[in-house]
Amino acid sequence: MTTPVPNASQDRERRTFQMDGIDVPFDEGQSILEAALAAGKYVPYLCFHPEFKAHGSCKVCTVKVNGRMHASCTTPAHEGDVVESNVDELNDVRKTLVQFLFTEGNHFCPSCEASGSCTLQAVAYDLGMTTAHYSPLFPDRPLDASHPDVLLDFNRCILCELCVRASAIVDKKSVFALSGRGITKHLVVSSESGKLVDTALAVTDKAMSVCPVGVILRKREGFKIPIGERKYDAHPIREVAVAPHDKE
Ligand code: SF4
Ligand code: FES
Repeated sequence: MTTPVPNASQDRERRTFQMDGIDVPFDEGQSILEAALAAGKYVPYLCFHPEFKAHGSCKVCTVKVNGRMHASCTTPAHEGDVVESNVDELNDVRKTLVQFLFTEGNHFCPSCEASGSCTLQAVAYDLGMTTAHYSPLFPDRPLDASHPDVLLDFNRCILCELCVRASAIVDKKSVFALSGRGITKHLVVSSESGKLVDTALAVTDKAMSVCPVGVILRKREGFKIPIGERKYDAHPIREVAVAPHDKE
């Protein structure tokens, strides 16, 4: 059985919205972010992952739709919408959100295993962020090195919930959860001891590969890919995000 391929006239009939003056085609049910990325138009984002339902927590993907701000990952595309994205006002909002994230956690990029493949770092560079701007809070977040194969560095967690969802939905293990509210919200390990060693986490789990920063790390693989050869070293995130090919 062959899969029907849309012909040229069907393709021409795809509905569109306008983003920054350019027509962006979309399929029924696609979000503005999904349609934009598929059309090669970069919108910064952090908590979105194409394999999971968007939940819209980071707000870095905020765009203006017909003059009103919306998270583009949770806003369905509609015919004729006028969307603004790459404009100073929105990039300033995004930069402030990213600066808050750097302030709220402990992000020491030069010594981080994820440097060069970290989405937070790459988005910050793309937005022209050169300093955290706000006074860092330096929260006290101990590491969890209890698991034989995995190290957890909570200092870098941006609370995107991707590991929570991957572990629950794909791995069916619910190893991770978020606890607390507001400024006290934090990632926890769902075992009686609170330690990773007392969970069923395996290095092959989906939860091991979804963290956009450097929290969930495989032991004994530090700097396996040299600095300078990582995902966002060769190409900036605005290129990688719209052509997510090979890089690790
Ligand atoms: S550990 Fe990573 S994937 Fe999990 S919530 Fe924190 S930043 Fe997101
Ligand atoms: S990517 Fe849309 S709210 Fe985080």
